[in-house]
Amino acid sequence: MMMIRHLGAAAAFILALVSAADAQQAPPPVAAAPGQIMIKGKPYVYDRDNAMDVMRICAGCHGELGAGGGGGSYPRLGGLNADYLADQMRKFKSRERENIPMIPFAVDRELNEQDVLDVTRFLSEVKLDTKPPADMPNDGYARLQIMKKVLQIPREAGDLAAGKEFYGNDCAPCHGRKGEGRLKKPLLAPQHISYLKVQVASFLSGKRPHDDVELLKSKSETEWANLWAYLSSLQD
Ligand code: HEC
Ligand code: HEC
Repeated sequence: MMMIRHLGAAAAFILALVSAADAQQAPPPVAAAPGQIMIKGKPYVYDRDNAMDVMRICAGCHGELGAGGGGGSYPRLGGLNADYLADQMRKFKSRERENIPMIPFAVDRELNEQDVLDVTRFLSEVKLDTKPPADMPNDGYARLQIMKKVLQIPREAGDLAAGKEFYGNDCAPCHGRKGEGRLKKPLLAPQHISYLKVQVASFLSGKRPHDDVELLKSKSETEWANLWAYLSSLQD
């Protein structure tokens, strides 16, 4: 341990020497490497402690590990793509996407870009399960800890085969074959179905934009019910 610390100190010293030498030649302004996110002129560095700090605000509604809840009013965030999550946070902040429950949190504490990047990175790395482990401990507290990672979505009634066909033809090209999502096209399974229904209602009313909304509008109530049944079946 001490050895490693000494090595660390030596490395820091050498780095300091190197950067002092660089400084004498008036270094050019830091240019962002391709794909490098800059915050106030400095390359962004993930701060996990800050992510945990910000998560304390989110946990009340979305759960400590972003499993969502409230009967599906609060979406699952754990395991979603970080860029998608960060985009949505920025849209809430600018009010481009309406989210009344989140307004006080997106504004009052003024989540800055570092907070947004940290919390969304943390959430994107969470791995949630859809079933409790077979060997659940008896201890209540230990069970509670485990259940934070378990996402339970009630099954919806409908024609699974028809829902699968609807999904496969119209949604899978963007949202993935099993609803797992693709980059900024968010995962749809496993996700709380009541949350997804609210989003589709906002797409249909034009409150939230979605690609090819005419296609969504062409679907009947029965077709939607089948889609929800299928999505709620994708839980493994
Ligand atoms: C008071 C409850 C509440 C708190 C606290 C809260 N949220 Fe939310 N959040 C919601 C609700 C409700 C929605 C769904 C809004 C809708 O229907 O569009 C949501 C939606 C989201 C979404 C969109 C998910 C998606 O799939 O598009 C993201 C991202 C999000 N919240 C992140 C956060 C983060 C990060 C925090 C903590 C800084 C946080 N929320 C705190 C209630 C809350
Ligand atoms: C051309 C690509 C594309 C297709 C096809 C598509 N989507 Fe999407 N969908 C997106 C993108 C992109 C978003 C994220 C929009 C944003 O950034 O707000 C999205 C978001 C969603 C959301 C919101 C999820 C969340 O976490 O808030 C739902 C629900 C959804 N789509 C349902 C569907 C359904 C159902 C279908 C099939 C009928 C479908 N989509 C087809 C691209 C697509």
